[in-house]
Amino acid sequence: MNKIKLTIDGKVVSGYPNQTILEVASDNGIDIPHLCYHPKLSKSGQCRLCVVRVGGKMLKASCTEFAMDGMDVVTEDEGIIAARKLVLGLLLQEGNHNCLYCEANGECELQRYCRMYQMEEPSRQIPFHEREVDYASSNALRRNENVCILCGRCVRACGELQVSNIWGFAERGHRTHLIADDDRRIGESNCVKCGTCVQLCPTGALSFQQVLGRGLNWELSKESSICIYCGVGCKIDFYTNPQGQLVKTMGNDEGPNKGQLCVKGRFGFDFTQSPKRLSKPLVRKDGVLSEVSWKEALDFVAAGLTKIKEEHGPDAIAGLSSAKCTNEENYLMQKFMRAVIGTNNVDHCARL
Ligand code: FES
Repeated sequence: MNKIKLTIDGKVVSGYPNQTILEVASDNGIDIPHLCYHPKLSKSGQCRLCVVRVGGKMLKASCTEFAMDGMDVVTEDEGIIAARKLVLGLLLQEGNHNCLYCEANGECELQRYCRMYQMEEPSRQIPFHEREVDYASSNALRRNENVCILCGRCVRACGELQVSNIWGFAERGHRTHLIADDDRRIGESNCVKCGTCVQLCPTGALSFQQVLGRGLNWELSKESSICIYCGVGCKIDFYTNPQGQLVKTMGNDEGPNKGQLCVKGRFGFDFTQSPKRLSKPLVRKDGVLSEVSWKEALDFVAAGLTKIKEEHGPDAIAGLSSAKCTNEENYLMQKFMRAVIGTNNVDHCARL
């Protein structure tokens, strides 16, 4: 495709004719404030925070306006700032944005832009309808619609990325609000707990249960790794609090999962820090599990397997391996069962 050239803030940049102004700007390192836009989702042009001036005249939503050859774009002037402050002011009035109690404090995109434009608390000129919060119906997700800005990212993420179509909007005008299925609480809906909606929510309207009370956003440190469950090899960012506890996972965009996770990758990490996790071998003696050395445990297992094999034959024994082991460990397991025990009774819990 032939490239086009346009001017953004006096700088000549290039892009493609199928790109919007916001996409060309972003590819060229120019940040245009936006809320409803997300590069993984279809464009909805809902929030109008991304307005820019085109050709010295009209303000256009840069997330939906296609870039054209020779276009002259200004991303910030007095009029644009006034328009953005108006949008932010209306969003603040429509909700109850108290960062002190919000899970997204420190990483909220609305908060970032309010600070950027030095917004002050607006006086309420439009009615505020307090919504019921849903903090307890799901063991995975929490919803606080009082900080929802109706950007629709969760709706599009659920429909376009996860293809679950749980989220939607109900009612009209200032009564518009987010619903799960036909207006159910999250825990009673068909939500599959992938968490994609939370990952893409720009505010704290949707959040995870696990992280609650376990660290502030700016205290968490991030390490990237690969999911231990199935064979897809999804890349995950693990977040740890100052006490060393794993508190949150986010899908990493660079993996084959492109930032998405399933319920196991998203929430199945608590076992690593469970006090019930076995770290030493135990052998039952007189009905009580007692800690023993690895040598004693392995001798005990070997004697047990030998006895069963002698009395009932090798097919009385079966080996069940684990998806949490490496390929090499699983290979050795089946080899041991076949070559040493002498049975083909081998299976693998790949369906955790
Ligand atoms: Fe363009 Fe919301 S980001 S309208």
